[in-house]
Amino acid sequence: MCGIIGCAASRDIVPDLLEGLRRLEYRGYDSAGIAVLNGGRIERRRVKGKIRDLEDHLRSSSVAGPCGIGHTRWATHGRPSEDNAHPHTDCTGTLALVHNGIIENYWALKERLRAEGHVFRTETDTEVIVHLLENHYNGSLEEAVRRTVAELEGSFAVACVSHREPDRIVAARNGPPVVIGHGSGESFVSSDITALLQHTRRVSYLADREIAVLTSSGVRCTTFAGEPVEKPVEVLTWEAEMIEKKGFAHFMAKEIFEQPDVVRDSLKSRLSLESGRVFLGDAGIDPKIFRDSKRVVLVACGTSYHAGLVGKYLLETLGRVPVDVEYASELRARDFTMDRGTLVLGISQSGETADTLAALRAVRDQARAVVAVTNSVNSTMAREADGVLNTHSGPEIGVAATKTFVGQMAALSLFALAFAQAKKTIGPEAVRPLIEELQRVPHKMETVLARAADIERVARNFLSCEHYLFLGRWINFPIALEGALKLKEISYTHAEGYAGGEMKHGPIALIDEGMTTLALVPRDRVYEKMLGNISEVQARGGRVLAVAFENDAKARNVAEEVFPIPEVHQLFSPFLTVLPLQLFAYYAAAAKGLDVDQPRNLAKSVTVE
Ligand code: G6P
Repeated sequence: MCGIIGCAASRDIVPDLLEGLRRLEYRGYDSAGIAVLNGGRIERRRVKGKIRDLEDHLRSSSVAGPCGIGHTRWATHGRPSEDNAHPHTDCTGTLALVHNGIIENYWALKERLRAEGHVFRTETDTEVIVHLLENHYNGSLEEAVRRTVAELEGSFAVACVSHREPDRIVAARNGPPVVIGHGSGESFVSSDITALLQHTRRVSYLADREIAVLTSSGVRCTTFAGEPVEKPVEVLTWEAEMIEKKGFAHFMAKEIFEQPDVVRDSLKSRLSLESGRVFLGDAGIDPKIFRDSKRVVLVACGTSYHAGLVGKYLLETLGRVPVDVEYASELRARDFTMDRGTLVLGISQSGETADTLAALRAVRDQARAVVAVTNSVNSTMAREADGVLNTHSGPEIGVAATKTFVGQMAALSLFALAFAQAKKTIGPEAVRPLIEELQRVPHKMETVLARAADIERVARNFLSCEHYLFLGRWINFPIALEGALKLKEISYTHAEGYAGGEMKHGPIALIDEGMTTLALVPRDRVYEKMLGNISEVQARGGRVLAVAFENDAKARNVAEEVFPIPEVHQLFSPFLTVLPLQLFAYYAAAAKGLDVDQPRNLAKSVTVE
């Protein structure tokens, strides 16, 4: 939540700050600002609103300079307003700072600083940091930062500048991610690599309790205690054009249509039809860990939690192992116990979700091993884990997760097969048809996506419907939850996901002509029961849409509209059933003219608790 950026170069860096902020906007978008060092002064521009509003403001009030910082905000303390927008400055206006995170002891610090005579002009927790810097500044911004962070409790990624040292930015990390970009004759700092790809693919990652000093000629890192740290430079393989819209109206649409390739990339070189084997060597998980594991616990938030539920059903069926899926925020609040034979998987697109990180840290000493299932192999979660299963989805910019969800399901399918192989719960003869079927999944996904126009037509016809019930059973129950979440997130329509069997225990009371039920009815072990659900809805005057196999005459008879999917093995139907639901939500939101890629109040990466 919140994105920070900084550039130190020997040319005007304002366009780079704005470009970087546009790429970080998915992290928060209620207000934005920049501070630029210009001829011995700090020039600051801030707005309530999005980066395009900041750009408009800069057209009438331009600023330029070779060194500066920027911020895009997701409000925690203090409502979205120009005053609360970062960068914040000290009483003298000679120091400016941007912050991602939460300062937990800000109130005590604020009272103390006020008593000392500091004047506060915002409702934010962040402002205390810049007043502390003012107290500690004695000719070295780096030293002032070192003394300041020693007084802070909470999580922070900060970048700051001083007009007395106009060639440099000092950044510090304790919690939220900080990435350093090493350009030629220029240096960058950012919350995320996507903001750096335009300039350099050479990056390093600040660890917790480290400080970086950036100038145009390079970057120097130390610990909070002042010890020098040598940072390895990694060369990224992501290309800048991977974060363009490529002719689609929205990133979300582009990302939905990229999903078949995501599955292909995930399966690549991890499956062998000849030997009937699955290889997860790239994840660095010792097969012995699988053999020793008596229980698996999956930990995640949001859409990643839904992928975890799909993973549970796969692991139960293939690996014959007890599996629990836990919301990270709940697990960390509980007195959770596990024996040493428990394998823990953290599932997180970003690898930076604060609750997921905290939950994994809380259980890691009890676990046999912790594996990170992530799209960000350099993230905090990946670095802290014993093994890393890459979901190979490429950068996802739309705030509502789509292709990373499918990437997680692909990774978890492979994981379940590898687990079952190691445990010998299924032999190569049984694995081979599953491998074949998985390899056919991307093409089948393309068949579903080719019918997007039909889904758009239905979504437009149902625009006036205000309430939805998404129903699924067994492995499609998580897809019902995910379909409802997508519709809520981007079209602001009330939607609930339910297990089909639970309908009669409550939601059935809501059924009338104002409630549309979207039922997932692939022909699988719970097919007949799902048809029963549909009949119960119809008998009470509810409207029904269904996702069903192409040749399913029964489903066509009972539903008002059917979104057809090709026949598929029952374990892999979620790869297909989720697509019409994503498209339905997308087209509903787009038809309403909503901001599909940046829905209100949400952020892609939730680095606060
Ligand atoms: C936010 C995002 C969701 C995401 C969730 C977990 O709420 O808007 O799309 O599923 O965080 O994020 P993670 O990066 O841990 O998968």
